Amino acid sequence: MTKTHKIAVVPGDGTGPEVVAEGVKVLETLAEIHGFGLKFADYPLGGDHYRATGEILSDETLASLGESDAIYLGAIGHPDVKPGILEKGILLKLRFHFDQYVNLRPVKLYEGVDTPLKGKGPEDIDFVVVRENTEGLYAGAGGHLKRGTPDEVAVQESINTRKGVERCIRYAFEYCQKRDKAKKVTLCGKTNVLTFAFDLWERTFYEVAEEYPDIRTDYAHIDAICMWMVKNPEWFDVIVTDNMFGDIITDLGAMIQGGMGIAAGANINPQGVSMFEPIGGSAPKYTGKGIINPIAAISSAQLLLETLGEEKAGSMVEKAVMKVLRNDIKDVAAGKMGFTTSEVGDLVVEHIRKNLG
Ligand code: IPM
Ligand code: MN
Repeated sequence: MTKTHKIAVVPGDGTGPEVVAEGVKVLETLAEIHGFGLKFADYPLGGDHYRATGEILSDETLASLGESDAIYLGAIGHPDVKPGILEKGILLKLRFHFDQYVNLRPVKLYEGVDTPLKGKGPEDIDFVVVRENTEGLYAGAGGHLKRGTPDEVAVQESINTRKGVERCIRYAFEYCQKRDKAKKVTLCGKTNVLTFAFDLWERTFYEVAEEYPDIRTDYAHIDAICMWMVKNPEWFDVIVTDNMFGDIITDLGAMIQGGMGIAAGANINPQGVSMFEPIGGSAPKYTGKGIINPIAAISSAQLLLETLGEEKAGSMVEKAVMKVLRNDIKDVAAGKMGFTTSEVGDLVVEHIRKNLG
């Protein structure tokens, strides 16, 4: 019996549908080659759906998404919907509901891609950020007092639980072990100021580290790591950090690996339903033009395959992506690739097929 993976597809807003279509094309090619089944189900969530129906993300939709093996998402964010509604109501709700406690974001400079870092090449920029994805400042703890008056108070608290911190840190060590590169995990925090939250992180980090004697540990404050990621990115192998700091440093990471067009991400619950999405947003100004780079979405599909246990298929995606970046496209930026969005998807498929024989 061949295995069939049920994939819920959420194309979302803006350029989301355009890039997701290319990822689906690549996934279908691999299913055919490797002989596994794929059953796609489309979910029309996002800004347009919200404006047309009033649904942000209903309990029924959540229950239905929960029946899938993975969620493949394009982008969420709409210029005519107030910021926060869709981001919190769809993206963060999905991450929290499915307890996708790790946001895995590889930062890898591929050959043929320009980095703004002078004198750095692919051998210097190859690390992974393990961002905690269900707690911290994102948990939504806090509130307003006397809003709109001169005595207004706003409190937004960072929630850090031993369980949440420990499972994220353990994932980082396990991932580092499996990755088998520099065998080093760096904790990124702010132990000199946030002395409650990062006391918990630091103690947990060194306790978990004892279980992995062959992995080296390191620590960097959030401000310093922004400096080191630019000055000495070769120092990093796996970085583990909280939700807010992880959000910030992965945008920096996306830039040093060449741009949003190629930055992939995975929201992972190792025991549950994981969700795969490019880091970039819905890019309204490029929508419908066929000029957005689908590589970030295609590389997110690679992470999807790897997470579903289709590692061979995943590695074929990466090899093909590397060829497209090295030999075919002129630039990774939208509109400068020398190819349309769907031509880039076709190129990836072509390289996958050529690799076979
Ligand atoms: C990201 C995004 C989201 C986040 C937003 C859209 C809620 O910036 O995936 O990094 O802050 O996590
Ligand atoms: Mn972000």
